Amino acid sequence: MTKGDPLLILENLRAYYSSKKGLVRAVDDVSLEVREGECVGLLGESGSGKSSMALAIMGLFEKVARFSAGTSNDPSLRRAFEKGVPGAADLPGVRGKVFFRGKEISSLPQEELTAIRGRELSLIPQGLGHALNPQHSIGHQTAEPVEIHDENIRLIELKRKVLEYLGLVQLADANMRFVLDPGSFSGGESQRILIAMALIAGPYLVIADEPTSALDVTIQRQIMNVLKMIRDEFDVSLLLISHDAGVVAEMADRVAIMYAGKIVEYANAVDIFHNPQHPYTMGLMSSFPTIAMMQMRAGKKPKLRGIPGDPPDLTAIPKGCAFHPRCQYVIDRCKEEVPEYREVKQDHFIRCHRWSEIEKE
Ligand SMILES: Nc1ncnc2c1ncn2[C@@H]1O[C@H](COP(=O)(O)OP(=O)(O)O)[C@@H](O)[C@H]1O
Ligand SMILES: [Mg+2]
Repeated sequence: MTKGDPLLILENLRAYYSSKKGLVRAVDDVSLEVREGECVGLLGESGSGKSSMALAIMGLFEKVARFSAGTSNDPSLRRAFEKGVPGAADLPGVRGKVFFRGKEISSLPQEELTAIRGRELSLIPQGLGHALNPQHSIGHQTAEPVEIHDENIRLIELKRKVLEYLGLVQLADANMRFVLDPGSFSGGESQRILIAMALIAGPYLVIADEPTSALDVTIQRQIMNVLKMIRDEFDVSLLLISHDAGVVAEMADRVAIMYAGKIVEYANAVDIFHNPQHPYTMGLMSSFPTIAMMQMRAGKKPKLRGIPGDPPDLTAIPKGCAFHPRCQYVIDRCKEEVPEYREVKQDHFIRCHRWSEIEKE
């Protein structure tokens, strides 16, 4: 495969949880492509469905969702999950297709998926807390993705590899500390270890879910630098998930904007940040200080200041366009019909009935 070829393709991906309040439409009809060698940013407010999307891509959603359905008090929800992935539209589970390197991975049996996960496709999960096993040394855990796929690797080779990767992410004193368990490492160090684990088996795509969010500002900067080094020096594509427009702006070639489980706009980063087309993206960008400043410098007055109202509860998504109650361009049609996700010009996708009529700054 060469740079620019499609690497990951999502087709009408849906991932629904069951909850006491009802069905949570966390990922709702998402279609997206990530190409070889690019960094795609997935930007959305907290609760918009970003982590659920990462889990659905990795084939881990059902496991997480079944666990929460299993602890639910509602026996019909438990039954829905026990029956497996349901065909009906309004039941919990994952639907739609995930293609990775030309192969549909969403229908693979778990054993085959395990062979891909960690080696070809890896996830740096959100929240440092649960990601590392407190019982095992970090050297042991960093080695795992290699060991799983190459049982015959010699111990000395494995150790060399672990130290090489812990060194690449600049874990201080790695050659002395790799025998320690996770409790001996700070949050920033734990994130470095998780990044080393995600890279060690040489994946084609790394999904990084809020890699800097749990950290202090100065440590965030250091982790950003590690991620940038990876983007620039490794032959790997990145799907960078964040609620922070600044993080995405710094790293991404293309940016997908998520709102209430849907991608509302997907375009190259320059267009997203300088010429957003969807009313939600326009609102987001105007509350993002750098952009507002740039607009002012260019002699323009930033139009929207933040977005009034709150994102919806995903158990009760508004009818029609989910953004319509907060949109200043709303018309009756927006309250009834879900807008289609359309490519309005090459590589620029929008889900809005009114995009062509809205006057942009
Ligand atoms: N295990 C679960 N069971 C039920 N609902 C969940 C579960 N995990 C997340 N959710 C809900 O799914 C929605 C999307 O969550 P998430 O994917 O974590 O969003 P984000 O990563 O964008 O913050 C939220 O409404 C959240 O409350
Ligand atoms: Mg998340």
